[in-house]
Amino acid sequence: MNLLAGIDIGGTKCAASLGMLDGEDGIRIVGKTRIATPASPEAAIAQIMEALHAELEKHPDGRLAAIGISCGGPLDSRRGLVLSPPNLPGWDAVDLITPFAERYGVPVALQNDANACALAEWKWGAGRGCRNMIFLTFGTGMGAGLILNGALYAGTNDMAGEVGHVRLEPEGPVGYGKAGSFEGFCSGGGIAQLARRIIAERIDAGDAPGFCRTRKELPALTAEIVGRAAEQGDALAQEIYRLSARKLGRALAVLVDVLNPERIVIGSIYGRQKAIMEPIVLEELHRESLPLSVSVCEIMQAGLGEGIGDYASLSVALNHLIERGEVI
Ligand code: BGC
Ligand code: NA
Repeated sequence: MNLLAGIDIGGTKCAASLGMLDGEDGIRIVGKTRIATPASPEAAIAQIMEALHAELEKHPDGRLAAIGISCGGPLDSRRGLVLSPPNLPGWDAVDLITPFAERYGVPVALQNDANACALAEWKWGAGRGCRNMIFLTFGTGMGAGLILNGALYAGTNDMAGEVGHVRLEPEGPVGYGKAGSFEGFCSGGGIAQLARRIIAERIDAGDAPGFCRTRKELPALTAEIVGRAAEQGDALAQEIYRLSARKLGRALAVLVDVLNPERIVIGSIYGRQKAIMEPIVLEELHRESLPLSVSVCEIMQAGLGEGIGDYASLSVALNHLIERGEVI
C-alpha cells in the first residue's frame, strides 16, 4: 500500500497527514495529527516528525512514497528553504527538506501554501478539469496559486501569486505587509484590523455595535467574531464584509484581465461569508473587467472545505512524484 505524507505548516498550527490514492483521481486521508506550531523551527521539525512517525506506525503495511510540505511564502522550493514568512517570525532560511529526506529516504517537496491549495483544488476540488485556474486562500492571509496551461506556475523564484501584497488603496488595513493591500482588505488578519478601525470610531461616537461595546474589547476582535455578528444580522458587521467584498471584486477583475482564467476558486472566509460577499464581488468584477474575459470565468468557493490544508500538502507530494515521472 502506497502512502503519501503531507505536512502543513501554519503560524498557529501544523498538521501531519497521510493519504492513499483512491481510484483514478481521488485521495483518502487515512491519518492526521495536528499540533500547535512551536516557536523554534528546530522544535517544530522534531515535533512534526514525531507526529508523522506516530501516524506511519498505524500503517505497518504502508510504504511511504513521498512527502509534501506546504508553508506560507516567501520560500525557495528548489532548495527547500523557508525564508522568514510573516506568520513564522524567526524562520529564516530554514531547510525543511533535508531533515525529512534524510529520515525517510523518499522524495520531499516544499511548496507555497497557496500554490499547494491550488494543486489540491485543481486535482480534487472545485478546480477539477480546468486548464487555467486561480486559487485564492482568503484565510489568515491572502495568497494565490496559479494553474496555467495545465500546470502550476510558481514564477521565477516562487514569488508568483503574491497578490496579497498588491496595494489597492493608498491607505487601509495592513494585513501582513502593506497598508491598503489586497491582504489588508481581504484576509482574516486584515478584516480584524479593518473592523477595529471602523468600530473604534463608532465607539467614540457613542454608537458601538452589540458585538464590541468598548475600546477594551477591540484588541480581541477577530474576523470570526465580526463574521458571526454579520450572520446574526448586525448591520455594521455586514458592512465590514461588504467593504472587503468590494475590494475582492476589484482584485478579481485584475486577475481576470491579466490571466484570462476559466475559474477562480476562493478559500475559507469567502465560503463562510458567501451570502453577503458574492453579489458584491460579482457586481464589482463585472463592472471592472473586460466582458470577453469575465464571460468565460466562473467564481467558486473552495470545494475541499476546512480540511483543505491536508489535501494541499498531500497534493504537493503527489505533484512532485508526477513531475519526476513516477507513478505510484
Ligand atoms: C504570503 C503568501 C501566502 C499567503 C497565505 C501571504 O502573506 O505572502 O506567501 O501564500 O499569505 O498564507
Ligand atoms: Na503563491
